[in-house]
Amino acid sequence: MCADNIYAIILAAGKGKRMGTHTNKQFLCINERPLLYYTVKAFSDNSLISKIIIVCSEDEIEYCEKEIVSKYGFEKVLSIVKGGVERQHSVYNGLIAAEGADIVLIHDGARPFASNTIIEDGIKYAKLYGASTCGVTPKDTIKIRDSEGFSLDTPDRNTLFSVQTPQCFKYNIIMESHSKIQMENINVTDDTMVVERYGHKVWLYQGSYENIKITTPEDLIIAERILAT
Ligand code: CTP
Ligand code: MG
Repeated sequence: MCADNIYAIILAAGKGKRMGTHTNKQFLCINERPLLYYTVKAFSDNSLISKIIIVCSEDEIEYCEKEIVSKYGFEKVLSIVKGGVERQHSVYNGLIAAEGADIVLIHDGARPFASNTIIEDGIKYAKLYGASTCGVTPKDTIKIRDSEGFSLDTPDRNTLFSVQTPQCFKYNIIMESHSKIQMENINVTDDTMVVERYGHKVWLYQGSYENIKITTPEDLIIAERILAT
């Protein structure tokens, strides 16, 4: 039996506005290596991943090739493609480049600590159910707020799930759903929403509190601490 083609699409085409630095956040260093290095390494080191597609801003493709892919010898990187204005456009470009994949893992470039267990569980559940994402139970109590700013409701924390990446899919399901949503011109904040819209079920599995997304400057300090453990 042939092994599955399992591709990781790593998204690094955002602007990093909330980080507020001149250098785009995925190229900021944690312990002397760029954030994106750790993210690519996590997938590159996993033996189930066949190929990696990196999605970057057009004007950062050359830099990414030189400072990440060549410098650290990431041979699984098949291509670096340009992103789009919104995250979903970047994903779509990544999906086009991942043609031939059986399973795709879509992952935030700004999320450097995806473990082997998280990657492998995502693949397992995507094969079983067609779509899966990791995440964690929120640590805070979550409120629903009304339009005037008052609390409307307090959902039971045990039913809530704070979604992370990787989000993992059978290629045909995610490609077909993304193509449709492009036509419909609808905005989404993650990829599970895209497949849900067209009736696909998404399995939610355990991620980790260390699988953080680097968004604001204090996240860099947390990342240094995680690396030190
Ligand atoms: N991303 C992308 N293309 C976009 C927007 C986001 O590839 N048009 C990527 C980012 O590079 C990031 C991931 O999606 O790795 C998650 O997005 P987020 O953390 O919001 O990053 P940014 O959009 O770069 O940050 P900000 O929202 O603060 O500008
Ligand atoms: Mg953003």
